Amino acid sequence: MVEKFLAMEFLGVTEAGALGAARWMGQGDNERADQAAVEAMRRALDGVDVDGTVVIGEGERDQAPMLYIGERVGSGRGPAVDVAVDPVEGTNLVARGMPGALAVIAASERGGLLRAPDTYMEKLIVGPPAASKVSLDYPVAANLQIIADSLNRRVQDLTVVILDRPRHQALIEQVREAGARIMLIPDGDVSAAISVAVSGTGVHAVMGIGGAPEGVLAAAALRCLGGAILARFRPRDDAEAERARTMGIDLNRVYRTEDLASGENLVFAATGITDGELFQGVRFFGGGARTHSLVMTYRQATIRFVDTVHLFERRAVGVVRL
Ligand code: FBP
Repeated sequence: MVEKFLAMEFLGVTEAGALGAARWMGQGDNERADQAAVEAMRRALDGVDVDGTVVIGEGERDQAPMLYIGERVGSGRGPAVDVAVDPVEGTNLVARGMPGALAVIAASERGGLLRAPDTYMEKLIVGPPAASKVSLDYPVAANLQIIADSLNRRVQDLTVVILDRPRHQALIEQVREAGARIMLIPDGDVSAAISVAVSGTGVHAVMGIGGAPEGVLAAAALRCLGGAILARFRPRDDAEAERARTMGIDLNRVYRTEDLASGENLVFAATGITDGELFQGVRFFGGGARTHSLVMTYRQATIRFVDTVHLFERRAVGVVRL
């Protein structure tokens, strides 16, 4: 019930974020794009009847004026929920007008989303057929063979998404040696994680090291879609390691999807900012805009792709297109 109500409310929140950020597409200003989405999402959240606490957000209280970790959001009148939010997943992508940027939010009953420190995480992400079969402790080639078998194809027929970073040189070589194809992406591993769990997108795994907060958001999406993320925290330095430990993180442990997003009343929403494989980005027209989103609930088991026309000035709009 909570999920049902929250799904459409949170869809409105990511739509607002995407509409805010999209005005900054290609303007070369990551911060303004992010700020526009943060302000729009914060405002939209005010109108949602929840007693929300941000567990993953824009940073610690002293680093972020809004949507900081621990901030109370919502009207305060509804159910108690934890909220994980990434107003712009892929700020560089928006600033440069490149594909794949999203506005993202996930929510659950209290305690249902891991309070992940802002550090790195080693990730292996697969779709539903291989979800229970792969392991972060297997060699890359063994995991690729398992994924290929699960999809009834050869390793050569797989495409693996990897963030284009120097730290992935050895991983890229191992994937190449195993024979799989690779899609190097400049940013945006949450979008890649969702794509892997949606058939027809042409990508079959995400491998490598990306942001830990993004790992929790991906886990929320993957719970709803039946895919899996296996993850190990990878702090960049001693200070990050210490902070992770004080937050109760076990640096040797492999966290599974349901460890990162353990909630039963889980809601995930994402709206495209720029065009991508999953979503069309925000399209503006005279007097309005159109957004494309995904909103999912775990317990209710609904997955909705939503195409919304937003009329800013009702009288200025002539005819709405199919
Ligand atoms: P931002 O939206 O904060 O720019 O992050 C985008 C992103 O590419 C994530 O998708 C990814 O998990 C992380 O950054 C990777 O971090 P880094 O750029 O430090 O390698």
